Amino acid sequence: MQLLQLANNHQIPAIGYGTWRLKNKPTTVDIINDAISAGYRHFDTAFAYGNEETLGQAFGATKVPRSELFITGKLWNDDRSNVRAACTRSIKNLQCEYLDLYLVHWPASPAVHKDWAEVNRKVWAELEKLYQAGLVKAIGVCNFKVNQLEELLKTAKIPPMVNQIEYHIGQRQPDIVEFCNQHNILVEAWSPLGSGKMLKVPELVQLAEKYQVSPAQLSIKWCLDNGVLPLPKSKDPERMRQNLDVFDLKISPADLKILNDMPYVGGSGLDSETITLFG
Ligand SMILES: NC(=O)c1ccc[n+]([C@@H]2O[C@H](COP(=O)([O-])OP(=O)(O)OC[C@H]3O[C@@H](n4cnc5c(N)ncnc54)[C@H](OP(=O)(O)O)[C@@H]3O)[C@@H](O)[C@H]2O)c1
Repeated sequence: MQLLQLANNHQIPAIGYGTWRLKNKPTTVDIINDAISAGYRHFDTAFAYGNEETLGQAFGATKVPRSELFITGKLWNDDRSNVRAACTRSIKNLQCEYLDLYLVHWPASPAVHKDWAEVNRKVWAELEKLYQAGLVKAIGVCNFKVNQLEELLKTAKIPPMVNQIEYHIGQRQPDIVEFCNQHNILVEAWSPLGSGKMLKVPELVQLAEKYQVSPAQLSIKWCLDNGVLPLPKSKDPERMRQNLDVFDLKISPADLKILNDMPYVGGSGLDSETITLFG
């Protein structure tokens, strides 16, 4: 697995395994073991996914040394005034001693919080303390748009090292990616397969056929070619392996442009500036 470097030089495997929608049930331990056997070393988790304990059973029992795993956790919105306790709870649940990366799961939504910028600043200051205390090796955010990042950077002592955003063919958010590139913030792609929804788009299927790969493989390599770290999720061992087997695929610049220009498809519709559901 190729490794990338975060702004603080902490290394991160170039493809991560998404754990959203895996159940908090023993079958998930087998799924994580399959993912480890397939070669995944980078796991994207979140308290809000409700499955930390089960993931922890797999991480706690694996023979792969902790130093070879890269485990990301996320602070849920309900824990904004409870950051250190939330982080230590996740570390305990995940049986992982420390987190490689801790992310703010959602910025405070302006549609819910008049003082959204101040809420985000306070939360970020708490993440900085976790980093300085060594509980987490790197810190970052999710779902921050450009103006939310600009506000945060005004007072951040340590800039976010990662911004995890919805990113897939048909939803590129180029303004956010460009801003992050300029500020040495690694962009991670959540739902890099559009949660599976865009894999049957005819143009994508045709291009995948041309390269003799699956639409999922084309989508994952497209993320990497655009400098974005994909976090695909699959419960199926064969698909897990397939989703890692992308590094030899060479997408031509012309085809990369076709993929970049694909119209909106497969998006979640979630917008961190207007969301009221869990702002
Ligand atoms: N920060 C955030 O706010 C946020 C939000 C959403 C997601 N995320 C992260 O991003 C991760 C990935 O997003 P996601 O779970 O929405 O989904 P995704 O990776 O975009 O797509 C997963 C779907 O595609 C299917 N699939 C996977 N590989 C395939 C292949 N090779 N061929 C055909 N179908 C394939 C899976 O089915 P099977 O499982 O049956 O193979 C599943 O239905 C999440 O798990 C989570 O870790 C973060």
